[in-house]
Amino acid sequence: MIRVDRIARVQEYIVEKSLDGALITSRENLFYFTSSSPVLGGYLVVTPDDATLMVPQLEYEDAKNSSRVPVQKFSTREELYRVLGEMKLRTLGIEGRTSYSTLLSLREKLGVGDFKVIDDVIKELRIVKSPEEVRRIEDACRIADDAMEVALEGVGDGVRERDVAAKMEYRMRIEGADKPAFDTIIASGPRSALPHGVATDRAMKRGDFVVIDEGALYRHYNSDMTRTVVIGSPTEKQADVYAAVLEAQKKCVEAVRPGVKTKELDLLARSVLREYGYEENFIHSLGHGVGLEIHEWPGVSRFDETVLRPGMVITIEPGVYIPGFGGVRIEDTVVVTEDGARRLTKTERDLI
Ligand code: GLY
Ligand code: MN
Repeated sequence: MIRVDRIARVQEYIVEKSLDGALITSRENLFYFTSSSPVLGGYLVVTPDDATLMVPQLEYEDAKNSSRVPVQKFSTREELYRVLGEMKLRTLGIEGRTSYSTLLSLREKLGVGDFKVIDDVIKELRIVKSPEEVRRIEDACRIADDAMEVALEGVGDGVRERDVAAKMEYRMRIEGADKPAFDTIIASGPRSALPHGVATDRAMKRGDFVVIDEGALYRHYNSDMTRTVVIGSPTEKQADVYAAVLEAQKKCVEAVRPGVKTKELDLLARSVLREYGYEENFIHSLGHGVGLEIHEWPGVSRFDETVLRPGMVITIEPGVYIPGFGGVRIEDTVVVTEDGARRLTKTERDLI
């Protein structure tokens, strides 16, 4: 039912913008609009009063069983272009990520004269999650909590970053994840100053900060969480950096509620870090939306004007990075509720 509403909104948009139709090909949007996710991809064509999912022959059986919209198969590209050609799509809505070579083919083979990026209507739909989507993200977050438990038990003097990441990813798969949401980040010692320090062969040492940033992809939905620990006892400076990030993270999670602009959250994190003298070391935005993609709408940065609404799912992940010294990041995935927010990743934050 809900998927029909999603397509109905795209149809309304097509009419509003005087388009002949829209073509959707990205994996995430195919799943979002049809509930089907053909391994080799597919072509969802939406016209003002119809919707068809075209898939390669070998994907047909699977797509037919999962898709909420009628499925048609093609065995050659010529056949695909012939069927699309019959739809007379002169002005076509496309996703912004459609490749240039696809556009050239559509122009040449179908005679499309004009393209319009329709990401705004897709964003309007996907930015607020349905209860079912929230449940899946929550499950993905539970798996991330399980993997973090493995990490917190596994880190130690002499242990390689790579070994911890492998054990975490094994746990994710065992718990039902399709795969990690992204390359697991285990950044120890000076590498912890790299916001995206994907696990390497480096062996951790006593006194290291270790930033662990991970998530799971569960039935098409992502989770995202970061924790930071010290191997052994923290120095005074390490404890100070940790306290700053922890305070910023907790205050921002508490401030999440409907009506708040995401930029206000980012600015709140910056003001807390300023008091500790670390504002200049916060070199990315406070967070991002999470859903079918690990980074999606809304943006959670000082430049983003999005007003939070119930059902939005975002990360809150302040960090402080000091080159040569190390870094700290603490991140949770949270859902905006009617009167506040709920943390979906639940691993303890007071770790130092
Ligand atoms: N968890 C990785 C990132 O948000 O960039
Ligand atoms: Mn993140």
